[in-house]
Amino acid sequence: MPRPILCTIHPGALRHNLERARRGAAPASVWAVVKANAYGHGIERVFDAFRAADGFALLDLAEAERVRALGWRGPILLLEGVFDARDLELCSRLSLWHTVHCDEQIDWLAAHKTQAPHRVFLKMNSGMNRLGFAPGRMRAAWTRLTALPQVDEVSLMMHFSDADGPRGIDAAMAAFDDATADLPGERCIANSAAVLRHATRTRADWVRPGIVLYGSAPDFPEHDAAHWQLQPGMTLATRLIGVQSLQPGDTVGYGSSFVAGQPMRIGIAAVGYADGYPRHAPTGTPVLVDGVRTRVVGRVSMDMVTVDLTPVPEAGFGSEVVLWGRSAQHGTLLPIDEVARASGTVGYELMCAVAPRVPVVVEALE
Ligand SMILES: Cc1ncc(COP(=O)(O)O)c(C=O)c1O
Repeated sequence: MPRPILCTIHPGALRHNLERARRGAAPASVWAVVKANAYGHGIERVFDAFRAADGFALLDLAEAERVRALGWRGPILLLEGVFDARDLELCSRLSLWHTVHCDEQIDWLAAHKTQAPHRVFLKMNSGMNRLGFAPGRMRAAWTRLTALPQVDEVSLMMHFSDADGPRGIDAAMAAFDDATADLPGERCIANSAAVLRHATRTRADWVRPGIVLYGSAPDFPEHDAAHWQLQPGMTLATRLIGVQSLQPGDTVGYGSSFVAGQPMRIGIAAVGYADGYPRHAPTGTPVLVDGVRTRVVGRVSMDMVTVDLTPVPEAGFGSEVVLWGRSAQHGTLLPIDEVARASGTVGYELMCAVAPRVPVVVEALE
């Protein structure tokens, strides 16, 4: 028998979340962001659930090829554009739309031989200072691009640094509006946080939600997934493969970081950091045992996590343990955002980090 650990993808929830994002952003067209192998869920596993999107936005050519191989004939956007002049060949062949964020990418386009001109998304740096042209350089870049025979349509794009927090989107929006006021072209703006929190103010033709599609709240803990009516797209679950009874003073795990204060039972769950569970999850990190919320105790090790059975005295060998997602047996939810927060990270990282050794199943989509 394999270890009892299992990652389950919930396509019904993914579809629901896409619909939620679409409603939030209406009437904008929606890219389903599936970079990082669909935030760890697997592009092939989420594809059916996201068919209703207007396009797929992703990072590299290999991912784009996989989406085309699934039969998708609609738009695909390379969020960082091409990484080398030779990549433009495949863009032509696969009809990919691509971001242009620097002069080098324009140089490559100008030298590219293609029968079919490309649609490009000219990206502005609106204050995040990662990729994009400075506001004062947008017009020159746009003029250069529109003059190229290799380009048939230029859309305008930017990415918010603070849509999830108190700084908000005002400064970035104003910079973008100023720099692009008299430039024609569709606007591609708004990640998940902007879609949920600021959609009416972005006036986008296209939005690019990612994390929200997978059921995580982009602005947790200010709001949780339930607040935004999101459903978990992934469950990581396992079973107890051992139980120990502790006396006061007994310790648990490497470094003996947890010391029992009273008699208690702990369960040994078949999951560890080699499965993608965060090693930094401290004592107190929430976990579900038989659908009941309890906590991790002691240090997470490579293949095992120890959990407090005090709130669930009937639990024992073989009991279901949900690390995040939904209890198959009891329907109880454990939002990934809570586990991430306890571990000093974000839901994005946990989803992306589920290890290759964890078997994955996809629920049937009704
Ligand atoms: C350019 C761009 N657009 C959209 C997204 C989606 O962001 P989120 O997952 O926060 O919705 C990302 C993710 O980092 C991105 O880099």
